[in-house]
Amino acid sequence: MQFQLSEEQSMIQQAARDFAQQELKPGVIERDEHQKFPVEQVRKLGELGFLGMMVSEEFGGSGLDAVSYVLVMEELSKIDASASVVVSVNNSLVCYGLEAFGSAEQKEKYLKPLASGEIIGAFCLSEPEAGSDATSQHTTAEDKGDYYLLNGTKNWITNGSTASVYLVIAQTDPSLKHHGINAFIVEKGMEGFTIGPKENKMGIRGSDTHSLMFNDVKVPKENRIGENGFGFKFAMKTLEGGRIGIAAQALGIAAGAYELALAYAQERKSFGKPISDHQAIAFKLADMATKIEAARMLVYKAAWLKDQGQSYTLAGSMAKLYASKVAMEVTVEAVQVHGGYGFVKEYHVERLMRDAKITQIYEGTSEIQQMVISREILD
Ligand code: CAA
Repeated sequence: MQFQLSEEQSMIQQAARDFAQQELKPGVIERDEHQKFPVEQVRKLGELGFLGMMVSEEFGGSGLDAVSYVLVMEELSKIDASASVVVSVNNSLVCYGLEAFGSAEQKEKYLKPLASGEIIGAFCLSEPEAGSDATSQHTTAEDKGDYYLLNGTKNWITNGSTASVYLVIAQTDPSLKHHGINAFIVEKGMEGFTIGPKENKMGIRGSDTHSLMFNDVKVPKENRIGENGFGFKFAMKTLEGGRIGIAAQALGIAAGAYELALAYAQERKSFGKPISDHQAIAFKLADMATKIEAARMLVYKAAWLKDQGQSYTLAGSMAKLYASKVAMEVTVEAVQVHGGYGFVKEYHVERLMRDAKITQIYEGTSEIQQMVISREILD
C-alpha cells in the first residue's frame, strides 16, 4: 500500500494551494455576496491547465491523473467552492464525456478549446421533473434526418450562462425508455436556445446556475455523442467520475473550515487560555480532523482506482456520500468553534457551511449515492 504522493502530485497540490490563496481568496466574500462569477480566476485556471487536467495533451489537456485532479479540487475548494465547481464540471463531466465517448471530429472541434480553458462547458441532465429520476427525460430530440429538433427545459445548470458548449441529454424515442435517450453537443447561440435568469442560491453563489430553454433548436446529426440510444449510459458513466470531483470538493470545504477553526481556536482566549486548551473545543477539533482524514482516504482511493483502470462506481459514490456528510458536519462545528464570529461573513466559515450543502445534492443526492452503493454491495 502506498500513501505517499509522487513529487509531481505534491507540486500540483502546492500550485493549487498557492493559486487559491493568491487568486481566489481576495474577493471571495464579495463574489459570494453579489453572486459574481469568478471570470478572471477561471481564465487563469485555464492558463494553468486546471480546466482540462485529465485530458491527454493531444487534445489540449494536461494529461494528468485523477489523483492530481482531486488534489487540485480539494485545495481550490478550501477557499472558493464557486470556482472549484467550474473546474469540476468542465473536467469531470464535459471534457471526460467528450474524450471518452466523442468522435474524432467532436474532440477536434469542442474538446480542444474546452480542455485548454479557452471556453467552458456545461452538462445538462436535470429537468424540472427529472432530478434523481434521470431516466424520465421530458426534453425531446426528434430525428429529422440531417438534424435533431430539440425541445424542452433543463434546470439547475452549472455554468449556465458562461458556458459556450452544452452537453444536453434528451429523449429521442420514448417507446424505448432510457434506451431511446441521446446526448448532444449544443452551442451557445444556436437558434431557439435561450438561457433563463440566474438562480439566487444559498451557497456556491459565485457560480452561475440557470435553467435553459430549447425551442425547436436544430442540432446537427454529427453533434450526437455515441451511437443512437447511448445518451443515458453516457450520462451515468460521466457522472461516476463527476462524483469523485464533487467528493473532493466536499473534502476541500471541510478541510478549509477545519483549518480556519484550528487557527482561530489557538488564537482566541477565554477563561485565561486559548480556547483550544479547553477540552470542549479540543475534542471537537479531534473529531473534525478524524472525519476529514477518513473522507480523504475514500476520495483518494476512488481517484486511484480510476487511474488504475479499475471500477470506481462503488468507491466514487462512497466517497461522495461520506465526504459531503463530513463537509456538513465539520462546517457546522467550525462555525460553533468561532462562536459569534463564525456567524459573520468576514470569518469565512458561514460561507463554507452554506457551500457544503450542495455537495449532498448535486451530481446525485446522498440518497442516490446510497442507492448506487446498496445496489453494488447487494449485487
Ligand atoms: N454506468 C453505466 N450504465 C449505467 C450506470 C453506470 N454507472 N448506472 C446505470 N446504468 C444503466 C443500467 O445498466 C441500465 O441499463 P440497461 O437497461 O441497458 O441494463 C440503465 O442505465 C438504467 O439503469 P437503472 O435501471 O439502474 O436506472 P434507475 O432509474 O433505477 O436508476 C440512477 C438510475 C442511479 C438512480 C440514476 O438515475 C441516477 O444516477 N440519478 C441521479 C442523477 C444525477 O446524478 N443527476 C445529477 C445532475 S448533473 C449535475 O448535478 C451537474 C452539475 O451541474 C454540478
